Amino acid sequence: MTRAIEDLIPDYLRGLPVYVPGKPIEEVERELKIHAVKLASNENPLGPSPKGIAAAKAVLADANRYPDGGTHALRQTLAERHGISPDEIFIGLGSSELIDLAARVLLRAGLQGLTSEGTYAPFSVAIRASGAELVRAPQREFAFDLKAMARAITPKTAVIYLANPNNPTGSSFGREEFNEFLAAVPDGVLVVLDEAYIHYAVSMGLRDSVEAYRKRKNLLILRTFSKVYGLAGLRIGYAIGRPELLAAMNKLRTPFNTSGVAQAAALAALDDKEHVTRCIETNSVERKRLSEGLAKLSFQPVRSEANFVFMTVGPDAQALSDDLLQRGVIVRPLGWMGFPEAIRISIGTTEENDKCLLAMAQVILKRAGKGELAAR
Ligand SMILES: Cc1ncc(COP(=O)(O)O)c(C=O)c1O
Repeated sequence: MTRAIEDLIPDYLRGLPVYVPGKPIEEVERELKIHAVKLASNENPLGPSPKGIAAAKAVLADANRYPDGGTHALRQTLAERHGISPDEIFIGLGSSELIDLAARVLLRAGLQGLTSEGTYAPFSVAIRASGAELVRAPQREFAFDLKAMARAITPKTAVIYLANPNNPTGSSFGREEFNEFLAAVPDGVLVVLDEAYIHYAVSMGLRDSVEAYRKRKNLLILRTFSKVYGLAGLRIGYAIGRPELLAAMNKLRTPFNTSGVAQAAALAALDDKEHVTRCIETNSVERKRLSEGLAKLSFQPVRSEANFVFMTVGPDAQALSDDLLQRGVIVRPLGWMGFPEAIRISIGTTEENDKCLLAMAQVILKRAGKGELAAR
């Protein structure tokens, strides 16, 4: 028998979609020869925490050494902050690695991983890549329908992925709804609660989920330094979970997963309250302004608790995104995330959001002139 290497790739991996990132600014500027702003990847427009940069620079000279593989200082500080023990903290290469590790540890063929339609695509990828069956409950009004999710639990369900606030829709669920859902989840099913955008959800209690975690053995909370701390390029995030689960995840991660530079920057950024506060406040003000500006252009952005807005724009969502790109504004068309008629716009600085609103107005005017105004 002759066998090609690719024959060894299992069928459940062949069908997986490739993650489609937002277009990089450099690529757009190179191709179109214009100045561009990127509002496509929910990054922090105000930059990294200055304290984080200083700390990262200070450890660069030690780059010949491997970093602390046990990430002791960062786990210790995070544990104190959350009032838990360091062995309940796991540091990952962004929350992306944590999403994947939870599935790799707990899922396999014959089991089911549950998530929702219209949520962060890597949840589905992690479930499918484990060989388990992917089950997706329907969404309701662009938000997690936790009742439908509870109904979708079967004896085979092992892991459930939720994002609060949700990406790409920006919607959120509150404490009561979540506690009700948790009460319906059997103890032997892990709930992964991805809180990448929790800092921006000013109307929600930030400590709520950690309190729920104290009462439940089956909750894994994911946080990241990529958003409010502005360290997306350094790839670092963390999980709060039971030591037994984290110990198993620890065996599967790559050795020295997070760099010393990322660990130092994260530690310092945690203490940079001024930067965090400024980022949250700017986001709130700009989110309101951008949403209102878009509403004036007769769009209906979904109410967002995150650092982006989502809106249905019609069947020409991709063409609209392309037109905005030609004007130097990179937004995210959401076809590959299951919303072929929607786009997502990250909240930028005041200038970036102004540029976005102006470009959007110009695109709409041009289309109206050509008689091809999008059906909204
Ligand atoms: C819901 C959600 N989870 C996780 C991530 C990944 O973040 P990280 O940079 O921590 O890997 C993102 C990134 O956009 C996200 O939207």
